[in-house]
Amino acid sequence: MTQDELKTLVGQAALQYVQPGSIIGVGTGSTVDKFIDALAASGLQIKGAVSSSLRSTERMQALGIPVFEASEVQSLGVYIDGADEIDHAGHMIKGGGAALTREKIVADLAEQFVCIADESKLVKVLGQFPLPVEVIPMAAAQIARRFAALGAQASLRAGVVTDNGGHILDVRGLAVTDPQAFEADVNQWPGVVTVGVFARNRASVCLLGTAEGVKTLA
Ligand code: 5RP
Repeated sequence: MTQDELKTLVGQAALQYVQPGSIIGVGTGSTVDKFIDALAASGLQIKGAVSSSLRSTERMQALGIPVFEASEVQSLGVYIDGADEIDHAGHMIKGGGAALTREKIVADLAEQFVCIADESKLVKVLGQFPLPVEVIPMAAAQIARRFAALGAQASLRAGVVTDNGGHILDVRGLAVTDPQAFEADVNQWPGVVTVGVFARNRASVCLLGTAEGVKTLA
């Protein structure tokens, strides 16, 4: 199966976590696009969704799925999103689509994070994928120096301004062996809006698309 077919498979599989009549959290990316399409085609009636990006909002609205503001809900039963990398404990690197800040906000509202990913995303140690970090523009150079002091290389993602007006640094050369400590540390650097390590908001379930079908890692 192609990577695209694996994404379709897990997008479809995520429907089992959607409660009819509920408001769900919806992430961002090509795998989530498959989920949104599957949801619209399924006939499952939900009240609506809280979206993590303008991209997903537009896709859902075009398919007739009502979109709510995060401030309109107190909690969500489930948040469904992809990942750039996921380890066996459910820690993830996210932000390849530059939506990491809103993704973390919506994930934080949810009782359960269901990650949908093809098997290429499963890793032993996070860090092969360049780590996205959303920053306040005036802090970008100083934050890049802090990563250099850790032996990593941060580069500004050219031409990208996030939905929140931030810039994205992509950081290469990291091996994130303790995701919780790393996330907590980088979060405290002045000017960091969001670090793309999702450890505190890790996935509770991962639906992994493989050649043998969907594997559920929990
Ligand atoms: C966007 C993300 C996505 O979940 C991540 O980049 C995976 O995307 P895709 O499903 O297209 O591989 O974090 O900010």
